Order: sequence, then structure tokens, then C-alpha cells
Amino acid sequence: MKLLVSGGAGFIGSDFVRRMLAKHDDWEIVCFDKLTYAGNLDNLKVVADDPRYTFVHGDICDRAAVEAAAQGVDAIVNFAAETHVDRSIAEPEAFPADRHPGHAHAARDGARARHQAHGAGLHR
Ligand SMILES: NC(=O)c1ccc[n+]([C@@H]2O[C@H](COP(=O)([O-])OP(=O)(O)OC[C@H]3O[C@@H](n4cnc5c(N)ncnc54)[C@H](O)[C@@H]3O)[C@@H](O)[C@H]2O)c1
Repeated sequence: MKLLVSGGAGFIGSDFVRRMLAKHDDWEIVCFDKLTYAGNLDNLKVVADDPRYTFVHGDICDRAAVEAAAQGVDAIVNFAAETHVDRSIAEPEAFPADRHPGHAHAARDGARARHQAHGAGLHR
């Protein structure tokens, strides 16, 4: 199994990455994260040298970047989001951008990755 974990440098995403690599010897994980104020690669230090782990710096709102990073993955697990309530007051514009187009890219590319994994044709 190969996963792309978007928002994987955040609080919950990094725990998921660490746990899945510890639990499944044959899993590979691509962590895809914009590294906002909330993302922190220190959360992933323990897996940084693991050959099954790759980090890609990118924005889930960037369709091309998500597609490139999702090449060959079986599924996408998305944790990327603006999550801090204070930020929703100071910079509310960032929230709909992350919550809608970014999630739509992640969901669509995840579905496509799954479709490819089962050997079926692609339909846009
Ligand atoms: N923390 C909780 O207690 C909790 C509880 C329930 C649900 N959730 C949900 O789980 C998800 C993750 O929460 P969290 O606490 O880990 O958040 P977090 O803020 O710690 O992490 C979010 C991660 O997403 C990344 N990110 C933000 N925008 C991005 C973008 N456009 N492209 C790529 N990466 C981007 C950040 O850099 C960060 O690493 C959110 O949807 C949150 O609402 C969290």
C-alpha cells in the first residue's frame, strides 16, 4: 500500500504517518504539506530517514502539485486544513481555500489513485 498523506506534518497527520509506518512494514507514505504555521517537520523526525517515507512540500489547492505527488499511490488521506480558530478571525480568506478546492483536489485525486490501483481506466 502506498499512501499520500496531505497535511501530514500537522498534529493529527504526523501521528497517523508515524503510526502507519510503525504498524505496516510494507507501506510507503508520501507526506504532502504546505508547512504553514501549523506544519512542523520535527513531528516527523523519527521517520525522516525511513526509505518508505517521502516528504513533498506543496499546497493541496495546487492541482498539478497534488497530481504529481499522487502518482502511483493507492489512496490519499487528507488532514490538510486551516484549523486555528484565531486565524479564522485574522485571515478568514485562507479557510474556504483550504476547505473547498484543496479538499476537492485531494478527494478527486484519491479516487483516481484508487481507480488506477485496481487497473481500471481513468475517467475525468
Ligand atoms: N486536532 C484535533 O483535535 C481535531 C479534532 C477533530 C478533527 N480535526 C481535524 O483533523 C484535521 C487535521 O487537524 P490537525 O489538528 O492535525 O491540524 P494542524 O493545524 O495541526 O495541521 C494541519 C496541517 O495541514 C497543513 N496544511 C494547511 N493548509 C495546507 C494546504 N493548503 N496544503 C497542504 N498542507 C496544508 C499544515 O501545514 C499542517 O501541517 C483538520 O481537518 C481538523 O479540523 C482535528
